[in-house]
Amino acid sequence: MEIPELKDYSPGALDSFFAAILAQFDQDAAAADTVEKLEQLRIQWIGRKQGLLVRISEVLKGAPAEARREVGKRFNALKSAIEPRCDPEQLKATAPVTDAIDITLPGTRRALGAEHPLIRTMNEIVTVFAAMGYSVGLGPEVETDYYNFESLNFPPGHPARDTQDTLVITGQERKPLRERLLMRTHTSPVQIHAMEQQPPPLRIVIPGKVHRNDAADATHSPIFHQVEGLCVDTNITFSDLKGTLDHAMKAFFGASVKTRFFPSFFPFTEPSADVQISCIFCGGRGCRKCKQSGWIELLGCGMVDPAVFAFAARHQPAYDAKKISGFAFGMGVERIAMMKYGIGEIGQLYSGDMRFLEQFR
Ligand code: PHE
Repeated sequence: MEIPELKDYSPGALDSFFAAILAQFDQDAAAADTVEKLEQLRIQWIGRKQGLLVRISEVLKGAPAEARREVGKRFNALKSAIEPRCDPEQLKATAPVTDAIDITLPGTRRALGAEHPLIRTMNEIVTVFAAMGYSVGLGPEVETDYYNFESLNFPPGHPARDTQDTLVITGQERKPLRERLLMRTHTSPVQIHAMEQQPPPLRIVIPGKVHRNDAADATHSPIFHQVEGLCVDTNITFSDLKGTLDHAMKAFFGASVKTRFFPSFFPFTEPSADVQISCIFCGGRGCRKCKQSGWIELLGCGMVDPAVFAFAARHQPAYDAKKISGFAFGMGVERIAMMKYGIGEIGQLYSGDMRFLEQFR
């Protein structure tokens, strides 16, 4: 390209000089529709040695002192108009879509994560109790015999210990029994930890993992989850326990669900009860899921045994069974999740199979 003639350095002359250059660039740039042509354009216009801009700046060096400022400004404006348009990146923005990508191909999808159905169920249970003023507590999965059994009123050698097929940590024989470590068989030891840490009143829910030496089958797993609850205050009665759990079951499974309480036994509650809810599948009429009984057993509960308060009172004297009372409950999360989501095999919850987990997105 010929560099246009510049008669003088008046604003009018400069205007037409730069306009002519830019018009020429527009023409050249319009034709540069491939990476190669764009590279030629770049060398031709802004190449370090032979580029037109270099030659233009040579010409402009002849400007008289009073015109230098104006000339410099216009030259810089020209440069910043030209440079980005020589960048091959801009081809992507302007190139016709047809030969760049095939928009009919499926896109690259980023797999979205999902809350695991067990975690989701635990969170849902916790949320129901949080709305009633309960806070959330956690405790260790490796426990001492003292917290898992003794302080919960299972004395050494007590037959109730046998109902919790315990997995013990090896090499503990030299320690006194109460210090020996085991995998907690229930979340109830966190009741004692919580009471040791804070005086009454106490309202706490404890979600967590527990271990038992159980053979795995369609509904059992040696590792499973529980949500524990503990409420301690003055004048807490069995009616409070019934009202709380009845409300929680309705909030969780729907307002039409009924509850009933059966006498049961746990060393750490007295009296103790098993709670059943009316079958959520048949509404209580009787079906295969509830073995035609209309009821499904869901959790254990009871009034905190004074012996348990006596263990807590070793650290927090305010747990004086003459002044306060309380209730506790514990439920299995897998069972509830399986009921709620219609899962037939407990093992699916631990399989990590994406086809199973994707259903919970
Ligand atoms: N810890 C008991 C179990 O695992 C459940 C339970 C908790 C019962 C609290 C009563 C009170 O079976």
